[in-house]
Amino acid sequence: MENQHIIVRVATPDDIHYSNTITDEMESSAKARGTGIAKRSPDYVELKMREGKAVIAVTDKGDWVGFCYIEAWGHEKFVANSGLIVNPAFRGHGVAKSIKKRIFELSREKYPDAKIFGLTTGLAVMKINSELGYEPVTYSELTDDEEFWKGCRSCVNFDILTAKNRKNCLCTAMLYNPLEKLKEAEEKAMADKAAPAQPDPVPQPQFSVSASGHMHHARRRRRFKGNIKLYERWLRFKRFVLLKSKKEGGATGSKKKFFLF
Ligand SMILES: CC(C)(COP(=O)(O)OP(=O)(O)OC[C@H]1O[C@@H](n2cnc3c(N)ncnc32)[C@H](O)[C@@H]1OP(=O)(O)O)[C@@H](O)C(=O)NCCC(=O)NCCS
Repeated sequence: MENQHIIVRVATPDDIHYSNTITDEMESSAKARGTGIAKRSPDYVELKMREGKAVIAVTDKGDWVGFCYIEAWGHEKFVANSGLIVNPAFRGHGVAKSIKKRIFELSREKYPDAKIFGLTTGLAVMKINSELGYEPVTYSELTDDEEFWKGCRSCVNFDILTAKNRKNCLCTAMLYNPLEKLKEAEEKAMADKAAPAQPDPVPQPQFSVSASGHMHHARRRRRFKGNIKLYERWLRFKRFVLLKSKKEGGATGSKKKFFLF
């Protein structure tokens, strides 16, 4: 590829001529990966551009490079950054990372109190989301807005989602909770403030033994950030279990019970 400058910016109505290219690429990429996605129409992509709720990447020569958009759900309590797609000719150069960062900032500007979430089967997206501060969550922590879940109807795995009573599917749910982040920042600030008085860190017990002899482990939140191997294994495990159960008895007919997430 010859040297080209890539610009990542908020999309405008001037970008609507890219909409067919974008939706065609979304569809062919999903087919190539053999995974499901919620289908998007060019009209919908155009709407997002007109609303200023999309981020586009283009070259200085006007070639389309990438795209992503914002959707608000549950009376704007939740925001999803959806439809991430990068032109195959420009993959592996950090474009998705830049787009996701910009759309995340735009989401925080437009909906500062909303929880930001995403559903994905992609390891790259999990990696990027982790770096932005998202955490893996159960589906029950996502929006219950029916309109959002209707988007899954066009996905090839919709029967699995239905069979699992919307509690699980091949996608992994990830969430950025601004309130939790604020709390974490406050706690860190307090700890930093208190630090000069205690130059030597006091070792915290990781478990204790009660008078009855029971052992209690200190509850520690599992940190997924950077633990990509874990994500990889998790995705493989999910595919194995959910697709196996679909094959064995149809998504709804499996006798086996699996408790994931
Ligand atoms: C997934 C996709 C958006 C990644 O775009 P990209 O511009 O190549 O990604 P980036 O170069 O920004 O990579 C971001 C990170 O993910 C990693 N990554 C990229 N593709 C990956 C893959 N297929 N598997 C594992 N990791 C991957 C990169 O190594 C990078 O990590 P690093 O910062 O530690 O090096 C692109 O491949 C695509 O459009 N795929 C089809 C559509 C799709 O899957 N969309 C996501 C739906 S949820």
